[in-house]
Amino acid sequence: MYKIAVVGATGLVGQKMLEVLERKAIPFDSLTLFTSARSAGKEVEYQGKTYITEELTEEKANEKYDFVLMSAGGSTSLKFSPIFEEAGSVVIDNSSAFRMVEDIDLIVPEVNAPKLERRIIANPNCSTIQSVVPLKPLQEQFGLKRVAYTTYQAVSGSGVAGRNDLINGAKGEAPKNYPHPIYNNVLPHIDDFLDTGYTKEEQKMIDETKKILGLPDLKVTATCVRVPVQDSHSVAINVTLENPATVEAIREIFEQTEGVVLIDDVENNQYPLAVNTTGKEEVFVGRIREDDTLENSFHIWCTADNLLKGAALNAVQILEQIHNQNK
Ligand code: A2P
Repeated sequence: MYKIAVVGATGLVGQKMLEVLERKAIPFDSLTLFTSARSAGKEVEYQGKTYITEELTEEKANEKYDFVLMSAGGSTSLKFSPIFEEAGSVVIDNSSAFRMVEDIDLIVPEVNAPKLERRIIANPNCSTIQSVVPLKPLQEQFGLKRVAYTTYQAVSGSGVAGRNDLINGAKGEAPKNYPHPIYNNVLPHIDDFLDTGYTKEEQKMIDETKKILGLPDLKVTATCVRVPVQDSHSVAINVTLENPATVEAIREIFEQTEGVVLIDDVENNQYPLAVNTTGKEEVFVGRIREDDTLENSFHIWCTADNLLKGAALNAVQILEQIHNQNK
């Protein structure tokens, strides 16, 4: 039986983490729900019990938990994860704060496994998680040479504030979270801009793809776009393989890959759709076709629930992975 803490328990991802913990029947006998001072003291009904949310403080982080599921933004994570770690807790952190730190594992359980040099484990960027799941079997079978991503990302990826901008924008209100209206619009801008002209979100996809796949020299590029969709991210993946492949062979591989569902029947208008993906655990792929402008290159359309596989589910799967490693 584990002692578990969820940090950011009132957030969109935190709430999904609680849902997934229940669905996966993770054995725990102690659960602590941390929030900021703003939401502390709230009653939360969970599995027939009432929990009271607590403000996370340095003193409380200094207590040992078996697992801390953290989704409360980068600065909260930077401050509190090392304290939890020092106290002996394993932190599974959904923020980008530690993802590119060399001795910190960046894990998608279908793709790689933690070495646990540090007790902080990073949960990758949402769009990256769903993209590396189908890329991994292609890497194994054909080798990867180049990946170009274009994303179509849902507002729930920006938490409650993003969701509110879409809902309130539909009523004519000005945005509070995004620099422009997201309602009836498409924003080629996720996270801050870097000097290179790329956004941090794009750079995360580039760096994290290489780290998770263990391919530091892989050529990766990305354009990340926010679209007025509530939930589930879509990614257009353009991949160049090291060795020749066929559309049929790629389809067969996806049919046999755990965690991947192939929906690719264009004659009947069947392909992955964000609305059909929400609430599902798998990564959906379709529209697989050759890109005849480059050798050994293919287009893949890919959708996943950004709050589940892109965040909460992946975090709980990491917990399960460690649970199974320790059995
Ligand atoms: P709170 O409800 O007190 O603001 P989202 O990204 O979906 O908006 O969720 C962010 C989550 O992170 C919320 O649960 C929020 O709690 C929590 N949070 C924000 N800052 C802190 C902090 N300093 N300590 C603990 N939790 C925090």
